[in-house]
Amino acid sequence: MAKFYDLFMKEMEETSLSIWRSDLLSEICGDVLEVGSGTGVNLSYYPKSISSLVLTEPDPHMLMLLRRNINERHDGKIKAEDFAADALNFPDNSFDSVVSTLVLCSVKSPENTLKEIKRVLKPDGKLYFIEHVLAAEQSRLIKWQKFFQPIWIYMCGNCHLTRDTEKNISRAGFSFDKIEKLNSSGGPSIVSPTIMGIASNIYA
Ligand SMILES: C[S@@+](CC[C@H](N)C(=O)[O-])C[C@H]1O[C@@H](n2cnc3c(N)ncnc32)[C@H](O)[C@@H]1O
Repeated sequence: MAKFYDLFMKEMEETSLSIWRSDLLSEICGDVLEVGSGTGVNLSYYPKSISSLVLTEPDPHMLMLLRRNINERHDGKIKAEDFAADALNFPDNSFDSVVSTLVLCSVKSPENTLKEIKRVLKPDGKLYFIEHVLAAEQSRLIKWQKFFQPIWIYMCGNCHLTRDTEKNISRAGFSFDKIEKLNSSGGPSIVSPTIMGIASNIYA
């Protein structure tokens, strides 16, 4: 998958994702952690003003391409780690911002992952996300997402089509500063419904 990922995503990147990534990350600040970075597609969208950037990726093939991508930038502020998003080897309250793009669909447990993201975020930290999700209630697309899900999980590295990520983020103890419901183009319609936004870490 690592070898073909960028090629597979090319049309979706060109028609939707690149614009959304650029929009989402334009004002991100402080010490930033990205989970499930893949080959490092977001690298070109981070502003120079961030203090530091740690990209994490557990898949060794993806990680190799990610490290190559980082090395080409010659930027001492950026490093990569092989941590999974539900086992982040960082102390509590380490980051100002966490980025997750197209990852909460693929992790084993979104609940454990969001709990871990919350743990490493500072009390006033923010989660920046772009995630493809379950289609809106009443949409006929839901039937197709359920139908294709088993084969999609198998073919696309545990990627789920029917996760209600907005609900999961909210249940994990975040409040939305901003959330947009979008439809990507350039890919299959079953992965088109997408949410993008920023959520603040609420400390109880
Ligand atoms: C669809 S790709 C998205 C890559 C990149 N974030 C992007 O926006 O293009 C999903 C990524 O999540 C990673 N992933 C899968 N399970 C994970 C986990 N438990 N923790 C962190 N990343 C995971 C995969 O290895 C893959 O790189």
